Amino acid sequence: MLFSFCQVSIYTVKPFLILYRKLLSMLQSILNLFTSNKTKHSVDETVVPEQVPVKPDTIFCAIAACDINLGIGKDNKIPWKSPQDLMQFKERTMGKIVIMGRKTWESLPEYCKPLVGRTCIVLTQDTNYKAKGATVKHSVQSVIDYCTGSKVVYVMGGTQIYKLFAPIVTSYCVTRVHAEYECDTYLPHFPGVWRSCKMDEWVEEDGVSYSLEYGWRSNE
Ligand SMILES: NC(=O)c1ccc[n+]([C@@H]2O[C@H](COP(=O)([O-])OP(=O)(O)OC[C@H]3O[C@@H](n4cnc5c(N)ncnc54)[C@H](OP(=O)(O)O)[C@@H]3O)[C@@H](O)[C@H]2O)c1
Repeated sequence: MLFSFCQVSIYTVKPFLILYRKLLSMLQSILNLFTSNKTKHSVDETVVPEQVPVKPDTIFCAIAACDINLGIGKDNKIPWKSPQDLMQFKERTMGKIVIMGRKTWESLPEYCKPLVGRTCIVLTQDTNYKAKGATVKHSVQSVIDYCTGSKVVYVMGGTQIYKLFAPIVTSYCVTRVHAEYECDTYLPHFPGVWRSCKMDEWVEEDGVSYSLEYGWRSNE
């Protein structure tokens, strides 16, 4: 008796349960539509790959530091201070070409410019732009041509330049800052399948943990 009562109840309630779940998931999708641009983790996924012929012997490596929401900058500055990270950036990029956008170039303190021991390329659309001690370029193709013969070239940001090079970047080195900062620029989406290859021991500075992540584009 009890069994058949339960059976009846289940059969009566089941369609309502299904309907309830469907309504809930519809509501969730609608909510996502309205909130997706407002979430902290608002990574721009609208990268349009450019058809740029890549020189197979050059590895374009994106190098960046980001907070837990993939934020990289605020008011044309990096919102955190990590001397150890700046040191590893310096060591890693020493003797190499580093590519940056005009805004990132202008964000560097005067005493750092040009970055010692590195060839700085600054991208701008302004054909009259001068960057003392750096090479100014106006297109991705001209940068690629310039980099011919280099084994590794570092793409050091900011957001616009990461986006521009996203289709040809094949490796990355990212410092993960395990904290949240107010940011207005973010790491963009890098298309393709990526494999993470190493996570260094965490370093701590002023109560904030930092770790290094390396990755490469998978051919799968
Ligand atoms: N945390 C990190 O690792 C990291 C690293 C680097 C930068 N950042 C931060 O990122 C922020 C700056 O990023 P951002 O995206 O605003 O600027 P950005 O990428 O540094 O520079 C943007 C500029 O690049 C030039 N540009 C863009 N597309 C171009 C194209 N197709 N051809 C030629 N030139 C082109 C334009 O210069 P013109 O306007 O002169 O034409 C544009 O205004 C700052 O807050 C900085 O501190 C953080």
